[in-house]
Amino acid sequence: MRASPLAALAGVAALLHGVVAFGAEPIRPGVDYHSFANVAQFRVRSVELDLAVDFDARRLSGHADLNVARLDKSARSLILDTRALDIRSVSLVEKGAAGTALTFKLGPSREFLGRPLSIDMPAGAAGTSSVIRIDYRTHPQASGLQWLTPAQTAGKKQPYLFSQSEAIHARSWIPLQDSPQVRVTYRATIRVPRGLVAVMSAAHGPVDPKQDERGLTAYRFEMTEAIPSYLIALAVGDLTFRSLGPRTGVYTEPAVLDAAAKEFVDLESMVTTCEQLFGPYRWGRYDLLILPPSAPYGGMENPRLSFITPTVIAGDRSLVSLIAHELAHSWSGNLVTNATWRDFWLNEGFTVYLERRILEALYGRRREQMEDELGLQSLRRDLADLKPPGQHLAIDLRGQDPDDGASQVPYEKGKLFLQFLESRVGRETLDPFLRGYFDHFAFQSIDTEQFLDYLRANLLAKKPDAVTEQQIHAWVYEPGIPGFAVLPSADVFAPVDRARSAWLSGSMAIAQLPVSGWSTQEWLHFLDNMPPTLPRAKLDELATTYSLSQSGNAEIAYSWFRVAIRNDYTPAYPALERYLTTIGRRKLVRPLYDDLMKSARGADLARSIYAKARPGYHPITQTAVDAIVKTGK
Ligand code: BES
Ligand code: ZN
Repeated sequence: MRASPLAALAGVAALLHGVVAFGAEPIRPGVDYHSFANVAQFRVRSVELDLAVDFDARRLSGHADLNVARLDKSARSLILDTRALDIRSVSLVEKGAAGTALTFKLGPSREFLGRPLSIDMPAGAAGTSSVIRIDYRTHPQASGLQWLTPAQTAGKKQPYLFSQSEAIHARSWIPLQDSPQVRVTYRATIRVPRGLVAVMSAAHGPVDPKQDERGLTAYRFEMTEAIPSYLIALAVGDLTFRSLGPRTGVYTEPAVLDAAAKEFVDLESMVTTCEQLFGPYRWGRYDLLILPPSAPYGGMENPRLSFITPTVIAGDRSLVSLIAHELAHSWSGNLVTNATWRDFWLNEGFTVYLERRILEALYGRRREQMEDELGLQSLRRDLADLKPPGQHLAIDLRGQDPDDGASQVPYEKGKLFLQFLESRVGRETLDPFLRGYFDHFAFQSIDTEQFLDYLRANLLAKKPDAVTEQQIHAWVYEPGIPGFAVLPSADVFAPVDRARSAWLSGSMAIAQLPVSGWSTQEWLHFLDNMPPTLPRAKLDELATTYSLSQSGNAEIAYSWFRVAIRNDYTPAYPALERYLTTIGRRKLVRPLYDDLMKSARGADLARSIYAKARPGYHPITQTAVDAIVKTGK
C-alpha cells in the first residue's frame, strides 16, 4: 500500500470519532474511509472459517481464525470491521486450539459501516504473527446474506442461502479487515443440513461423508490466492452441477440446469478469448452459480465461481454480455483490485472495456457497437441526474454508503477512457500494455494514482504525443464526458430509429415494423427511446402485437414496463406486479418503483406491490426500495 501509516491512522481516527467534516479535508488517495481496520499496524494474512448453517434461526455460527501479522511493534489493539455480529469470545490460538482469552470491545455503530471490534493484542516484535480465534454468530438480518424460504426457490423444497460481500458486507458475516487493500487466502469448513450443497469462491475440498451429531455435513474449501474480503462468497442450496468445458461449468437448482447449460454454452470459449487478449486465467476453474431470482445484482465476480442472476437466461443467449463482464473481472478487479471504493472505476471501467472486447471477438463488431451505444445512453441518463463531483472517475465517497454510489460513471465513463487510450495508441500498443499491467500488479490492490503513474511510465513515455496531462486530468478528476472523447457511432441503431419514427407518425403500420430480425439490444433501443407519452391506441398495439408484458426476457420486459408506467397503462399492471414480486435485482426493480412513485395512483400501486414483494427481496434491494417507497417495514 502506498498510503503512509500516518494517513491511514488519520482515516481510522476520523472514522472512530465521526467528527470530521469530510468536505473540508482533502481526500487522501489510498486511504480506505469505509473500514475501521488499522491496516498500518496489523495485517490479516489468512482466514480460516468453521461455520454451521442454521436455516431455522437464519444464522451462521462458529468461529473465524485470523492469522495476523504485526507491522508495528508499539500497536496495542487490532481493530476489525463487524456489522451486526454477535461476538462470543476472542482468544489466541495456541497449538491448534483456543488458548489464552483476549479482551475485546465493540465500538459504537456507524451507519452502514458497522462497529469496530478492538482486540487487545499480546506484545510482539514487528514481523511476528499470531492466530486469533473469534467465536461469533451472524444476525438474521445480516446485510451480506440472504436467507430464502423453500417457496422462494425454483425447486420449492429446500431453503437457500447466499452471500453478497461487495462492497462492504463481508463484515456482516465474518469479522475481518474489510478493506479491498487487505488481501487474504482463506480456508473454510461449512456445515450444512442433509440434502444441501455448499459452494464458495474457492477450490472445493473433499466432502466428509459422515454427518456430525447435529446431522450436519461438512464441506471444505480453500482459496490459495490472496484476495480482497469482498470476494469471499458462500451459497448453500439444493445445487447440481453440469460441466460446460474442461475448466468451466454451471451450478444451479435442478429445475434450472438445462436452461442454464444451454444459455452458457460459450463459457469455455469466453475464457479462452479473454486469455488470448489479456494473459493467462490464473484461478484454475471458472464456474457459474445461477442464483434464485431475488439476487440483488446481475452478477458478482466471486473468484472461480461468479454468482449470476437467473434474469440473464433469456433463452437465446442475448444477455450473455453479463457473463463476459463477470469473467473479465478475473483480470480487472480480482487480479488487480481497487485499493479503496474511490478507485472502483479501476475495477468496473476496465471490466466493461474487456467485456466489450470479448463480445466483439466472439459475436462480432456490430453486437459490440450496440452494447457500446446502449451503455453510452445509460451513462448520459445518469450524468443528467448526478451532481458534478459524482461524475468523477476518482470519486469521493466519504460519508456515503458505497452501494449508493453506484452509477454508470465508473462503468461506462471508465470504459470510454480506455477506448480513448485505444484510439490514441492503437490496439497493437494498448493490448500488450494491458497485459503487462495485469502481470505487473497481479494479486495486488492499487489506487487511481498508482495506475496513472504506471500508465505514464509504460504507455505514454513510449507515445509522448498521444495524450496530454490535461486530458488525463479531465477523464479522472473532472465531471462529464470530455469533449475530446471518442464516442461510439450511433449508426447501428439508425434503422430502429427510423422504424420507430415511422410507426409513431402513422406512416408505418405495426405489422410492418421490421422486428423479425431484431436482437434484444435493438428491442431495448426501440423501447428506451419512446417519447414520454404515447396514445392509448399505440400502447395497445405494442402490448398485444408483441406480448411485451409476458416477455421471457427480463430486460425487454423492464424497458416495456417503464413505458407502461409513464403512461399509466393499467393493462400491464398485473404482469408488472408478477415481475416485481418475482425478481429482486436492484437495477431492474428500483427504477420501476421510482417511476410508479411519480403519480398518486402509481404510488398506491407501488405501496401495495412492495408490501408483498419486500419480504422476498435481498437486504440490499430492500434498503434501496425503502428509500423510495418509504413504507417502512
Ligand atoms: N462487481 C459488480 C457488482 C457490484 C458492484 C456489487 C458494486 C456490489 C457493489 C458486478 O461486476 C457488476 O458490475 N454487475 C452488474 C452487471 C454488469 C454487466 C454491469 C450488475 O449487477 O448489474
Ligand atoms: Zn462489474
